[in-house]
Amino acid sequence: MSGQKQWPTQYPARRAMVVGNWKMHGDVALTRAFAAEAARQPNTRDSAEVILAPPVPFLDITRNMLSGMWSLAAQDCHWAQSGAYTGEISAEMLAEFGCGYVIVGHSERRILMGETDEYVQGKIEAALAAGLTPIMCIGETLAQHQAQETFITLASQLYHGLPSSAVQREVVIAYEPVWAIGSGLTPTPEEVQDCHDHIRTFLCTHWNAQKGESARVLYGGSVKPDNVADFLTLADVDGVLVGGASLDPTAFADIVRSAFAL
Ligand code: PGA
Repeated sequence: MSGQKQWPTQYPARRAMVVGNWKMHGDVALTRAFAAEAARQPNTRDSAEVILAPPVPFLDITRNMLSGMWSLAAQDCHWAQSGAYTGEISAEMLAEFGCGYVIVGHSERRILMGETDEYVQGKIEAALAAGLTPIMCIGETLAQHQAQETFITLASQLYHGLPSSAVQREVVIAYEPVWAIGSGLTPTPEEVQDCHDHIRTFLCTHWNAQKGESARVLYGGSVKPDNVADFLTLADVDGVLVGGASLDPTAFADIVRSAFAL
């Protein structure tokens, strides 16, 4: 696979990114196993960036164990800086915990917690204000996919979810077809490239060409060691957001190695 990827050298911000989203899984033992794996992996952030998103109670221990080898993300944040929001966590708190990134608008939150594009926009604004880089998830449901409403759904989520402040700062976009998450199903590489091209074209129009072309756009949904290269080598795919396979240190390490081999 090495050498197949043609990175756009005029946009150096675009380099491979692997994000492991543990969702509501994991424990301290798993954190230890990942720290051991991280120590064995290449550690040159120039060629690829690896980010772990464990549940909040494990952020601190993950940060200490990773000791800067990989970056840290939270899986969500609140849109307010502080306040009477029992159970919620602000972007500023996450920044203080050592997070550099926060996942926002994951389909599980949109569907299970009723998060709207307006919530997503508020969360991205809060993340940017706290100095975090948001990883904004977008994607169509199976019904939208079957009705050939994928492009319109993606454009609508981007249009309504991106705050105007995002033009000044980095927002990573993660394209995750809802029907591919945790299902073992994936779109074909051609379909993924088409969607990423569509997303990038939208960003170039919505922001400007320089910013749209520089944006990192990840693919997520049933990414595994044996299919990751199919996605990572696509022209407009800058990395992957991994759920299930990120809970297995060996599988995740294989995915990380694929990113560094590009
Ligand atoms: P999956 O999850 O890799 O288990 O499909 C991806 C995600 O939800 O980000």
